[in-house]
Amino acid sequence: MPQPVLSLENLLFRWPDQVGACLDIAEFSVVADEQVFIHGESGSGKSTLLNLIAGVLTPQQGNITALGQPLSALSAAARDRFRVDHIGLIFQQFNLIPYLSVLDNVLLPCRFSARRSQRAGDPKQAAATLLQHLDLDAGLWQRKATQLSVGQQQRVAAARALIGRPEIVIADEPTSALDAARQTAFLDLLRRECAAANAALLFVSHDLRLADGFGRQIEMSQINRVAGFSPPPAGEGPGEREPGVFQRSGSIDRLALSPTLPQRGREEKS
Ligand SMILES: Nc1ncnc2c1ncn2[C@@H]1O[C@H](COP(=O)(O)OP(=O)(O)OP(=O)(O)O)[C@@H](O)[C@H]1O
Ligand SMILES: [Mg+2]
Repeated sequence: MPQPVLSLENLLFRWPDQVGACLDIAEFSVVADEQVFIHGESGSGKSTLLNLIAGVLTPQQGNITALGQPLSALSAAARDRFRVDHIGLIFQQFNLIPYLSVLDNVLLPCRFSARRSQRAGDPKQAAATLLQHLDLDAGLWQRKATQLSVGQQQRVAAARALIGRPEIVIADEPTSALDAARQTAFLDLLRRECAAANAALLFVSHDLRLADGFGRQIEMSQINRVAGFSPPPAGEGPGEREPGVFQRSGSIDRLALSPTLPQRGREEKS
């Protein structure tokens, strides 16, 4: 039986202003190379789950172990380091640094992580290879990230997630801004690159048409015991935060390598 690269055990997470839990997961694990498609209705906790796995949020109870490392044993700064060393992230909003070129955005994980840099071999060459594989013309590489189309930015974000072969790649609705043909092409590339790098892929999407070809497909209600978790009424702002739940640290550039907190968290941060 292959060792899991990721395992969750008795995990309980509640947003501070919520009465009930958002996530109650007895067990969930992913092995190396596995490609898991996660779906579920809006508000079922998919993004929250990815933020916990990435170590951006911390659960009130339970354990998350990634590559044998219990995340709860790490300080917030050490979790940032662990994330940049081992986890590639692609999010709907991409989090590209607007003032950096395409190439420098892709190289960012290697700037922050000696491990990613070393695993990339020659980082510039690795970035070039990934960008070529992702069908991004060399004529675009020196442009500022914001001077690209949405679909092109998405592929830059994928190259950045993949550089230096992180063991775990997490993607939260990364195709939602693409048309159907581009969605399939992007997904094929992402899955192929993850397989080539032996990375486990956790891919979240509403769109079940994209699930074909994934080794495992999971509906949130299959792993989350919270039944009918419902959001608070629209317009009701988040309440006082408990200390220790949002433990984000690091420079702005490094935060660009973190997922964006689910919607209401973002409002609070801005
Ligand atoms: N920062 C926050 N503070 C309080 N509650 C939050 C926060 N972010 C999300 N939630 C709540 O947690 C629940 C799960 O949200 P989450 O964003 O994880 O869902 P999701 O499955 O990713 O939804 P979607 O498919 O719409 O992206 C929702 O009810 C949401 O209102
Ligand atoms: Mg979401």
